[in-house]
Amino acid sequence: MKILAFAASNSRNSINRDLVSFAATLLDKHEVEMLNINDYEMPIYSSDLEAAHGIPDAASNFLKKIEKVDALLISYAEHNGNYTVAYKNLFDWASRKNIEIYQGKPIIMLASSPGAGGAKSVLALARDSAHFFKGNVVSSLSIPSFYDNFDSVKGELKNAELLAQLKTALSAVDND
Ligand SMILES: Cc1cc2nc3c(=O)[nH]c(=O)nc-3n(C[C@H](O)[C@H](O)[C@H](O)COP(=O)(O)O)c2cc1C
Repeated sequence: MKILAFAASNSRNSINRDLVSFAATLLDKHEVEMLNINDYEMPIYSSDLEAAHGIPDAASNFLKKIEKVDALLISYAEHNGNYTVAYKNLFDWASRKNIEIYQGKPIIMLASSPGAGGAKSVLALARDSAHFFKGNVVSSLSIPSFYDNFDSVKGELKNAELLAQLKTALSAVDND
């Protein structure tokens, strides 16, 4: 199975990218491609810009990446209970091209933050709205207190219980 994996963050030191990179190593039965949303940067969405110049190619290119794979692995960063502006902007532009952004693909949704909340709000938002964008969420998992539970030097989750939960969440693509 081909899986497209990315963090919904534009931070160079994204903890969600660390998490998704580690999760990708556990999907060893599959072919995982990592995507960086910084490669799809566009001006802040405005209907005026769209009317004047159309939809930037980056939006179509992002949708094509999704089209080509069998499943998605996304880890959402949380800013004020919501998507990062960077991901929301990409999402909004892409939705103008095709509202069915996730194109029916099975999605494993992860989220993490340094705090005890573990970016649960954005995870709930992403999960509960996925059906509007033709997303088929097969599992979701929040990793709280990232720096306590993740060994940044080794690049792996060190909390055994969370690791077991992550493996269960990742196995959902095999059952779909
Ligand atoms: C503007 C801003 C708002 C934030 N809001 C939240 C929040 O609502 N909940 C939370 O758990 N963490 C919040 N954080 C902390 C982020 O979880 C933290 O910066 C994390 O590293 C973001 O993920 P990333 O490293 O993958 O980009 C916020 C950080 C910023 C800069």
